[in-house]
Amino acid sequence: MAQLSTSLIEDIRRRSDIVDVIGSYVPLTKKGRNYACVCPFHDDHNPSMHISVDKQIYKCFSCGSGGNVFTFVQNYEKIPFAQAVKKVSEICHLNIQVDVDTHERPVNQQFSKLYKILNETISFTQYQLHTRDGQEVVEYLHKRGLDDPLIEKFQLGYNPGNNALYRFLSSKGYKDEDIIAAGVARLQNNGIVDVFDERILFPIHDVQGNPIAFSGRDFAKNPSYERAKYVNSSASEIYNKSNVLYNAHRVKELGHKVPQMYIVEGPMDVIALYRVGVANCVATMGTAFTKEHIQSLRRLTNEIVLCYDGDEAGQNANYKAGCLLSEAKYDFKVVKNTTQLDPDEIIKQLGKNELQYILEMPITWIEYLFDYYSKQFNLANYSEKKEFALLLMKAIDSIPDQFDKTIYVERLSQLTSFTQVQLAQLTPKQNVPISKKIRVENPKKAYSKIELSELHILAQMMCSKKAAILFEDNLGSLITPKAKALSLFLVDYYRDHQEVMVSDLVSEIDDPELLKLLLDIEEDDFFLKEYNEQLLLDNFEEIKQYDIDSYIETLLRSAMNYQEPSKKAEIYKQINDLMSKKKGAMENE
Ligand code: UTP
Ligand code: MN
Repeated sequence: MAQLSTSLIEDIRRRSDIVDVIGSYVPLTKKGRNYACVCPFHDDHNPSMHISVDKQIYKCFSCGSGGNVFTFVQNYEKIPFAQAVKKVSEICHLNIQVDVDTHERPVNQQFSKLYKILNETISFTQYQLHTRDGQEVVEYLHKRGLDDPLIEKFQLGYNPGNNALYRFLSSKGYKDEDIIAAGVARLQNNGIVDVFDERILFPIHDVQGNPIAFSGRDFAKNPSYERAKYVNSSASEIYNKSNVLYNAHRVKELGHKVPQMYIVEGPMDVIALYRVGVANCVATMGTAFTKEHIQSLRRLTNEIVLCYDGDEAGQNANYKAGCLLSEAKYDFKVVKNTTQLDPDEIIKQLGKNELQYILEMPITWIEYLFDYYSKQFNLANYSEKKEFALLLMKAIDSIPDQFDKTIYVERLSQLTSFTQVQLAQLTPKQNVPISKKIRVENPKKAYSKIELSELHILAQMMCSKKAAILFEDNLGSLITPKAKALSLFLVDYYRDHQEVMVSDLVSEIDDPELLKLLLDIEEDDFFLKEYNEQLLLDNFEEIKQYDIDSYIETLLRSAMNYQEPSKKAEIYKQINDLMSKKKGAMENE
């Protein structure tokens, strides 16, 4: 596997935020300055995982797993370390390319060329709206309710025919391969041609606001059945279709996280919601809602409102997305759209008030399922009704609120005429084995006296180089294997570091046992985290005493093995010397 440089790893570690990274996988709750979450590494039901903002580490107090940003991603995704580093860089949009196969190179240089071409495309197509050809497009957009400020805000443009864009970009000196890589032109038998000829362009940006792709709506003078209504850029180095959220960069400007985020199908729907005052809206560019979308959304909001079109495809999309979101334990609701229309058409046919009304009244997932399954199953047929009841009982089972549960079961009972007792039989409760419970360790109780001394010493060594030097001069080693290994590791680490940053050190430790020890100490306030020479010396003494005691024990055992009196006497003398040395040391205290 690729060897990433330590400076690159540390750079990414320092510029990333563990709250953003873990928050992109699991929902977090704020606990004072820090955060907590349900631990994804064991069967957890309460938030046992603690995330420290200052230390940039996480630790589960139930199962003991812990580490830094990289450890989390590595364990969650089950990927090698180098890939986890790459992933963190992506999640935090650090613009550092981590090349897992060869060496790292800064992403800026490589991508900025593509961004430049896409920005040129935006300007060029915006300008086209002011030409004679463009006049017709503007009229069309006005008719669809998009006034000039809206056209400007969403940077709509028009690409005429005849490879106008490609010719423009070429004349500006851009190379063919870069224009193609940017996704606005493609190579065909008859040469390089525009991808978006005679189309209205909606620019698509990443969360940072870099342009990454376009969606182009057909606006051909001679309409042809072969032309798709919408053409989107094909996937490229900068455009990943499965996690793109159109309009995310504008929503991000509204605040670090918005309380709710509406999800719609396309740019025209985003604009429709904007027209009725809902700016917190993104589009998945079609109905394919993915787990990657969920991951991107976690950074933007804590609650989703699904708002796919009212037609069958849209309602199926709501259902599929809802299943993914409920599996991911994401808070979400669904807009109840019984109109067969999309948001844009609702404004046109039923008026802005109607759209506003349904957006303000989203329903819960269970309510959505009641409606959705009612259409899928014929309740006059016994086995279909049973299937319907089973699916709903399963869904109801998974909601936490007891009151809501009761209400929904009652409703299901009325709908199916099955009694509540009968319904309960559909989803028998499984007994959770008690052995799954995990002991919460209390280091003060779980460790012996000598182990505690070792932990105090290690804690001192972790917070100051002076302690590590004193340790090397004064003691040199510890007793229990894990503690010994960590002490030697720290001594070694200080040879080319002035201080230990635990969140960085984590990346250098391969042994999970050592990592656990390190984090146990770091996260336990019982161990003093500032240099204290007396504390160190006292604990060195404990270890030395213990060393003497165990040596005496060894000698006693070997004395018993000797038959020869002179040998025996020699060993006993040694023991006596040690005992008096020890006694002297104790009297000196
Ligand atoms: P719709 O067909 O619902 O388009 O597709 P729309 O938003 O209502 O647009 P208008 O009102 O007809 O102009 C929704 C989204 O699905 C993707 C596009 O991203 C579009 O915005 N789509 C649709 C395609 O990629 N290709 C298509 O041929 C159609
Ligand atoms: Mn539409």
